[in-house]
Order: sequence, then structure tokens, then C-alpha cells
Amino acid sequence: MSQKTWDAVDRYIDDVLVGHDDALRAAVEASAAGGLPAIQVSAAQGKLLHLMARAIGARRILEVGTLGGYSAIWLARALPAGGRLVTLELDPHHADVARANLARAGLTGAVDLRVGPAIETLPRLAAEKAGPFDLSFIDADKPGNADYFRWALTMSRAGSVIIVDNTVREGGVVDGTSEDPGVRGVRRLNDLIASEPRVSATTIQTVGAKGYDGFTLAVVVG
Ligand code: SAH
Ligand code: DHB
Ligand code: MG
Repeated sequence: MSQKTWDAVDRYIDDVLVGHDDALRAAVEASAAGGLPAIQVSAAQGKLLHLMARAIGARRILEVGTLGGYSAIWLARALPAGGRLVTLELDPHHADVARANLARAGLTGAVDLRVGPAIETLPRLAAEKAGPFDLSFIDADKPGNADYFRWALTMSRAGSVIIVDNTVREGGVVDGTSEDPGVRGVRRLNDLIASEPRVSATTIQTVGAKGYDGFTLAVVVG
């Protein structure tokens, strides 16, 4: 089993189940043309986020880590009329590309894009009472995971869902001695979740066009 097989299966899933559309394709192309790293979720993962949001009837969604707005398009498309996605991005150039991509997708009115370090924007959102968010998707710098999770939890209600991307790191997550800041960030997140009675969580390992990684899904239980 190899990356080649995982790519082929993801292409097959895209063709048969996910589907293709111009706004998403254009977002990927404009992101590449703008020099952004190609680290957006895969199409199959984007659709999973979209379906999750629809399944829980999410009206308010929080995203930490916008990049070029690819996952934001998937998430915002799941919103009912009047719903809102708040998405946080550190890099002003990434935010510019995302703004254009969201506009092309016709989603400008549904998305509130905030530029700056998430650790500064999150307390501001809490002070504004922007929540409670029905769904939060945490996908920014990995050392920040635990802090972002804590803020997402603060702005949640019982039944809210919090998803964190990239929590397996090619299996690196099992190495307690790792000095990789990403691995350390995930392990700190897991320790927080384990000690936090208000959430119940699991992690699913994934292979696909983005290699071997995984995501963590937590539900706020009280
Ligand atoms: N969710 C996107 C991918 C996000 S990549 C998608 O799937 O389409 C991670 C993004 O987080 C990058 O754009 C990076 O600039 C941003 N980021 C990194 N550190 C951050 C911080 N401290 N605050 C907010 N965003 C940050
Ligand atoms: C990286 C970040 C991501 O959010 C991702 O999905 C894949 C890779 C990275 O920083 O390398
Ligand atoms: Mg990611």
C-alpha cells in the first residue's frame, strides 16, 4: 500500500461520491498561483466537514486556520440561510487569497474572516459573544492546538462538535519524546482532552491524497 494507491482511491472517491465544482477547483488553483502551501484538506475531507456541519444542523461555525479558504468554502456551503462561518487567519496574504476565493464561491455574506494571531482573535470573539459555535474546526499552527481547543470549548454548548486536523502526523503522535512541535502540540491537546470532563473524543487515522495523518473529533457533553 502506497501513496500512489491512496491518491488513486481519493481520485475515485472524488469522481464517484464527492463531485467536482468550479469554485473549489478555482480556489485550489488561485491558492497555488498565490504561492500558498498546498496543505488544504482533501476534497473527501472537505466534504466530510460539510456533511458533519449539515448532519448537526450547524448555524454557527468557527474555523481556526483559513489558508486560501478551501475548507471554509466546504463549511460555509453547509450553512442554512442566515448562518455564519467565522474563520481566523494569521497571514494577510493568505486572507486576501481566501477572500477572493470565497467571493468567487458566492459566500462573502456568510463568512466573517478575521486576520491576526488566533490567540488574540479568539478572546475577542468570546468577548463579543460570537458563539456558541455548533461546530469548530481547528487547523492552524499545531503548537496552538490546546489553546485553540480551550477557546473553542469556551464558545461551545452541550452538543457542539470540535474537530482538530492533523492529529496523527504519520504516526509521530505516539512518540512521547518527540521534539517535533507538531507532535508535541497534538500530545498536549490529547492530554487536555483526556483531563477535560466536558468533552468526549476520539481520533481517526486517515490515508489519502494528503498522506498518512488523522483527525480528532470531540463532542461537548456538558
Ligand atoms: N483549513 C485550511 C488549511 C489551513 S493551513 C484548509 O483546509 O483549506 C493553516 C493556516 O493556519 C495557514 O494559512 C496559516 O497561515 C494559519 N495560521 C498559522 N498560525 C496561525 C495563528 N497563530 N493564527 C491564525 N492562523 C494561523
Ligand atoms: C500542514 C498543516 C496542515 O493543516 C495540514 O493539513 C497538513 C500539513 C503543515 O503545516 O505541514
Ligand atoms: Mg490541516
